[in-house]
Amino acid sequence: MPQVAADTPPATEPFLEEGLITSVLHTIKSGKEASAYLCRAHRSLGPRYAVAKVYHERSDRNFNNDTMYQEGREILNARTKRAVAKKTELGRAAQGALWIDHEFEVMSALHYAGCDVPEVFAATEQAILMEYIGAEDAAAPQLQHTQLAPGEAPALLERLLWDIETAMANNVVHGDLSAFNALYRPGRLTIIDFPQAVDPRFNPHARRLLGRDLQNIARYFARHGVALDAGRHADWLWRRWERGEL
Ligand SMILES: Nc1ncnc2c1ncn2[C@@H]1O[C@H](COP(=O)(O)OP(=O)(O)O)[C@@H](O)[C@H]1O
Ligand SMILES: [Mg+2]
Repeated sequence: MPQVAADTPPATEPFLEEGLITSVLHTIKSGKEASAYLCRAHRSLGPRYAVAKVYHERSDRNFNNDTMYQEGREILNARTKRAVAKKTELGRAAQGALWIDHEFEVMSALHYAGCDVPEVFAATEQAILMEYIGAEDAAAPQLQHTQLAPGEAPALLERLLWDIETAMANNVVHGDLSAFNALYRPGRLTIIDFPQAVDPRFNPHARRLLGRDLQNIARYFARHGVALDAGRHADWLWRRWERGEL
C-alpha cells in the first residue's frame, strides 16, 4: 500500500480523533462532488481499510440541480430551514450537512436490507467514513472503466436489478445510477453515491428517476450483449411498489 498522505484533509480529522482510523493513506479518486481517501482503519473497526468520502465545499457544487431531489424532504429545525431557504453561508453549510446525512442514512438502511452498498461507519457535516471496496493493491474500478470477464454480464445485471428492487422495497430510488456509480470486483458490483437518492412516497420525480436509472443500466448492459427493456421493467417495478408487493 502507498505511503501516508503528506497532508491529512481536515475533514478526516474527526475520524482520526474518534479513533476510527489511524491514518489517511492516499486519494482514491477526486470526483465531481467529493474526494474519496483510502484510510487505514483502527483495529477496532474490523476491516483493515476504510474510505473517507469528503465532500467539496458547497460553493463548488451545482446548486440548481439540487431542488428536484430535495422535494418531499422536510427540514424539521425551523432555524435551519430559514437559513437554508435564504441561502446564507450558514444555510449552505447546513444544506451540505443535510445532504451528507441523507446519504449516510440511505446507505445505512440499504446495507441493512442486504443491498450491495458499502457499509457506513460514521458521518460528520463534511464526510462519510465507509467500507473500502477494493483489493489490497487497488480500489475497485467503476463498472464503466472495467473489462468484464466473458459471460459475466447476465448475472451482474440480474443482481443489480435485485438491488434496485430491494432499494424500492425500502422506499429508495438512487436517482444517479449508472456504470459510473457501480464499483466492480470480479463477479460482483457495489452501488455507491447516494446523496441525491429520493423517496418515492414523497418525491414527485421518483418515477421518472427510476426510469432514468434503469435506462442507464440497460444502455451499459446492451453494450455487453444483455438486453433489458428499461421502460417495461420500470413500469413493472413501480406498479408492484405501488401495490405494496415488493
Ligand atoms: N467505498 C468506496 N471504496 C472504493 N472507492 C470508492 C468508494 N467510494 C467512492 N469511491 C471512489 O470515489 C469515486 C467518487 O465517489 P462517489 O461516491 O461516486 O462521489 P462523486 O461521484 O459524487 O464524486 C468513485 O467513483 C470511486 O472511484
Ligand atoms: Mg459518483
